[in-house]
Amino acid sequence: MTERYVVAIDQGTTSTRCIVFDRRGQLVSLAQQEHKQYYPKPGWVEHDAAEIWRNVERLGPEALRRAGATIDQVAAVGIANQRETTVLWDRTTGQPVGHAVVWQDTRTDTMVSELDTAPGAEGVRHRSALPLATYFSGPRIRWMLDHHPGLQERAERGEVLFGTMETWLIWKLTGGLHVTDVTNASRTLLLDVHTLDWSSESLAFFGIPRAMLPEVRPSIGVFGTATAAFPGVRIGAALGDQQAALFGQTCFAPGEAKCTYGTGSFLLLNTGSELVRSTHGLLSTVAYQIKGEPAAYALEGSIAITGSLVQWFRDQLELITSAPEIETLARTVTDNGGCYIVPAFSGLYAPYWRSEARGVIVGLTSYITKGHLARAVLEASAWQTREVVDAMNADSGLALKTLRVDGGMTADNLLMQFIADVLDVPVVRPLAAETVSLGAAYGAGLAVGYWPDLEGLRQNWHRAAQWLPTMEAGKRETEYANWQRAVARTFDWIQ
Ligand code: G3P
Repeated sequence: MTERYVVAIDQGTTSTRCIVFDRRGQLVSLAQQEHKQYYPKPGWVEHDAAEIWRNVERLGPEALRRAGATIDQVAAVGIANQRETTVLWDRTTGQPVGHAVVWQDTRTDTMVSELDTAPGAEGVRHRSALPLATYFSGPRIRWMLDHHPGLQERAERGEVLFGTMETWLIWKLTGGLHVTDVTNASRTLLLDVHTLDWSSESLAFFGIPRAMLPEVRPSIGVFGTATAAFPGVRIGAALGDQQAALFGQTCFAPGEAKCTYGTGSFLLLNTGSELVRSTHGLLSTVAYQIKGEPAAYALEGSIAITGSLVQWFRDQLELITSAPEIETLARTVTDNGGCYIVPAFSGLYAPYWRSEARGVIVGLTSYITKGHLARAVLEASAWQTREVVDAMNADSGLALKTLRVDGGMTADNLLMQFIADVLDVPVVRPLAAETVSLGAAYGAGLAVGYWPDLEGLRQNWHRAAQWLPTMEAGKRETEYANWQRAVARTFDWIQ
């Protein structure tokens, strides 16, 4: 039967989705399931990798059923995943060692501060093109090896394996293939971003045995054939979800950028085959690599908490019952009433990289209502975007002209308008909102010849919405100065 579809698995921080796409890049069906978030201590965030795999196993067939498709109509499957989240498992039994430690988790902050000034740290930073921060996988692997008795020895014997989510899923899908892709590997602090292989010096710095690491492969190219969930289907691509969104937004040329608003928000600028080092607090990262071609790199402004702040407002403060309600609540007032929330729940990422920073709410008076708090929650995403755009402009020497956005929060018109206002540039959203999944699907489809080339994919990009800046310049700069004073308070809190 003709192969008519490509399927994407989007394994994100809060949920897993399987999405079926057709040749025009249009969404045919979607199946989605949230997984449990574990917060065992302040600053700790964990997932159950076994639960996530069970979700993939169920969602794959479910998505096909909803599309009215059979497995032999699927040309390839692509994976996009939450990055940096660290899974260890037993090679023989396939059982995870404890819970996966999530990218937002800050349990390694003391270790990271110590390592930051240790001999060899500069080399790690240079080879990985990353700052030493709790965000990345390397320190988490070290922490897990230290806190499970006998694990180091078992890892040295290759009995315990490491992977980020795509590695774990490919291992489960294929019944034991242990591989990663360059984009995910570039988030571990262990990869040499020039050679695109693990660095022996960086592994020695963290005391991590090579035997536990997966083989590094290009992001786009056949990894293997699935035996579970999608039996008989080739796995054509794996990319970190933010790189997948860059690909899904068809930002294939140097200078093209997008920002995805999910749990956190991530602004990526394609810098082509050249790795550009930031001097303003951004990361350099691998954007993607097509098998047989040089890697494309990106500059990234990573913001840890944006959508997560809305989730916190809903689940921990219980001031709304569903995420979209925040816009309605925020519209009950005309401004923030002088209140600012800086959500440094996992420290502050770009451009500060202060793992020890903690969140603050400033400007509280008895005038403040939950409407003002809702506004401050939304505004926090916009001001954090402004900070990374300023850094990106300073690094590239060029001013961003428009911001391409995607992700769940782009459904919030008030927020999108506020982002256009604080950046003073138009914000545009494509018709295909599921850019993370689309990027994984595009990669997988290219790998198996379902789509012939990148140019053809560009034709699928269509603008759905645009927000133009309307805020008066004086107001914008006063508000930005207030935000920056609030950010400074997150550092005062550090002991
Ligand atoms: O680096 C973390 C990022 O990959 C998480 O993305 O969309 O799952 O919050 P998301």
